[in-house]
Amino acid sequence: MVPADDPYADVEETPEADGGRTALGPLARILPPSATVEGGRLVIGDCDAVELAERFGTPLYVYDEDSLRFECRELAEAMLGGPEGSQGLFAVKAFPAVAMATIAREAGLGILCSTGGEHAVATAAGIEPERLVLHGNNKSEDELRLPVSRLVVDSFDEIDRLERLGVDVDVWVRVTPGIEVGGHEFIRTGGVDSKFGIAAAQVVEAARRLAALPNVRVRGLHAHVGSQLLVKEETGVRDVMLPLLREVAEAVGEPVREVDLGGGMGLPYTVEDPEPLSPGDTARTLLDGWPDDVALTLEPGRALVGRAGVTLHRIGTVKEIEGIRTYVAVDGGMSDNIRTPLYGARYEFFLANRADHPGSRPVRIVGKHCESGDILALEASLPEAISPGEVLVTAATGAYCFAMASNYNVVPRPAVVLCRDGEARLAVRRETVEDFLRLQAFPDGSS
Ligand code: LLP
Repeated sequence: MVPADDPYADVEETPEADGGRTALGPLARILPPSATVEGGRLVIGDCDAVELAERFGTPLYVYDEDSLRFECRELAEAMLGGPEGSQGLFAVKAFPAVAMATIAREAGLGILCSTGGEHAVATAAGIEPERLVLHGNNKSEDELRLPVSRLVVDSFDEIDRLERLGVDVDVWVRVTPGIEVGGHEFIRTGGVDSKFGIAAAQVVEAARRLAALPNVRVRGLHAHVGSQLLVKEETGVRDVMLPLLREVAEAVGEPVREVDLGGGMGLPYTVEDPEPLSPGDTARTLLDGWPDDVALTLEPGRALVGRAGVTLHRIGTVKEIEGIRTYVAVDGGMSDNIRTPLYGARYEFFLANRADHPGSRPVRIVGKHCESGDILALEASLPEAISPGEVLVTAATGAYCFAMASNYNVVPRPAVVLCRDGEARLAVRRETVEDFLRLQAFPDGSS
């Protein structure tokens, strides 16, 4: 059986190495713009994927640096078209590398952090507190004291803490607008039944309490209704937030003129997925008809980085169970991509040395972890003859794969390389077993 999502379904079988971008067939749309095929091999940012795997080892996260820069610049430029104070932030949780935060800064974006750890990554990238926003549903006292331009206040308990600590800060109130949208239920955040934010009906009360604190200034409202949205405007979040902003401004008697509509712009992961609006186009759409006295902030993560990245694994064991299925095992798995086990996410797979070769053999792609659920693809198709040692490519892994990597089974986390004009630079070095052991206490009492 050939799965319906065979990415090469409409590409003619070409046993001879082809070349160029068209050789990628329908996959081209979900791979970085620089992806091409030379001598049958995948090339990203003018770097040969098979050579990258040899040089840096596998598993390896590979990014097209120009693509990262392009998406960030597009958003930053689109936000310049908004009222004064409008801005784009990169939600660094999607790809928390200092090198990436640096790219976002150079493109003109600020950074959205959700923890002190993410704040440290952004700070290490040279981002000033004036370009940092911190949100989170359960911030520690230390996190509440971090230097930021805006703190997103998430609960009444947090208001109590700010009062007790006497924190001097400009705030937005996180609104739960009662809108249920987004891909998987775990990445929906806008419904009433959510751990995030303050229900729309209580926002005015929260803003009043905040405004009464001597060191706190209420500047605006924040909402993030979910991830993997196709067209953000259609969620209706704008229509909830703008009237609420006016109500809050009236209640606190100060100018409250900022609205952050969150992130959540989607990404096509498979060749069948629809094409969502890009962050830049989302910004332009929202700003069309937007009030000119309200500064707009958007804070995407996934859509800025997802398509720019692929993962390289080396194939090890191929196990054929007669009449049942073939398992293709790679040298990573749920430790470098938890999204399939966690959300049932789907990806496209192909071989780096036969990037122009159609796959017609149905396989299940698994990792090396001690879990049956360690599955990268329930069903994928790869070329008929697969040799151990070949390099497998997973497309569109730029968001939330490195970010959610673990060292389960003491499999060290992969390295990250950024490719541009034929140069590959290491953004994050591979974790080592020594790194893991360094945190431990030893039987002789040393640590
Ligand atoms: N703003 C807020 C307040 C958020 O909570 C998030 C993501 C974003 C912005 C960025 O959302 P994005 O544009 O990347 O969709 N681990 C999941 C995604 C969880 C998103 C959590 N919050 C995944 O792998 O799909």
